[in-house]
Amino acid sequence: MLSVLSISTRKGSPLTTDAPHDAYSAIRELGAAPLWRYFGDLFLAEPRSAAVPYRWDYSALRPHMMHFAGALSLEEAERRVLMLVNPGMQEPPATVNTLYAGIQIIMPGETAQAHRHTANAFRFIIEGSSAYTTVNGERVHMSPGDLLMTPGWHWHDHQHEGTEPMLWLDGLDFPLTNTFEAGFFELFEDRTQKALVPDDLSTRRFIHGRLNPAWEQATGPSSPVGNYPWHETERAFAAIADDAQGSDSEGIVLEYTNLGPAGPCCRRRTAGSAGCGPTSTAARAGPRPARSCTSCGVRAASRSASRRSTSPRRTCSRSPAGSPTGS
Ligand SMILES: [Fe+2]
Repeated sequence: MLSVLSISTRKGSPLTTDAPHDAYSAIRELGAAPLWRYFGDLFLAEPRSAAVPYRWDYSALRPHMMHFAGALSLEEAERRVLMLVNPGMQEPPATVNTLYAGIQIIMPGETAQAHRHTANAFRFIIEGSSAYTTVNGERVHMSPGDLLMTPGWHWHDHQHEGTEPMLWLDGLDFPLTNTFEAGFFELFEDRTQKALVPDDLSTRRFIHGRLNPAWEQATGPSSPVGNYPWHETERAFAAIADDAQGSDSEGIVLEYTNLGPAGPCCRRRTAGSAGCGPTSTAARAGPRPARSCTSCGVRAASRSASRRSTSPRRTCSRSPAGSPTGS
């Protein structure tokens, strides 16, 4: 770098020491920039986020949702969503650095066009009933408190057969996807999909966690569960209500587990952990439902879990030699 500077400031060069502004302008026009002016912003002493703490008020947003529900059709809007934009992340809009959230409303009788995108999505249902989202041909019904999963590149459309407004919180990881320039979007050939399997099949198949169909394996990195219904979550809390101690920092937290091959058994690990043991705050707070991992040897608690443990897909992300091979 020093040699470049000494050459560029020689007498007769267009870049002279008494005209530093011209020198910087000249290199900018050449598509170059002086690293020394950006060093502190590019090589941080510690992580720094553009997102700032902020609380979005649902009761204040809801009247605006209702206004746009009357003023804007779903044919015009594609999705009628108010984005929850972090004050520190206005352009492009995001809620935190890797995630976007928004409040979506669909009115009785409406349908939202089927489409798919590489970004993964989840939905927390806030209010309403008798609506469903069809994900790759499976109708997944929504009730308040439910957590619905829409894995990336899965077709999905929404239909509302109820009588009251249906609202939910959307969460998508497109800020992360777009960072990798991996964003793709496609419209389905029809406005809605036909049902290809019985309604809520994936939810009924896998929601119980330790009692899964022995004849069928979850495939792919996404959770095979379409909906984690609130009534099951509430039942799980009720079952431990008298005994759970929780953690000092987060209290009593239950973890939504991914029953797929890349579930939290193998994906989550604390620093210094030797294998696939429970690592989340929720898991540390109490016994974790037994699941199998071929590397760490945690014993399965049920026949079906045992069978899963022999699958070559269910392996720990830590190599046999103990060196981490993935996150
Ligand atoms: Fe979508």
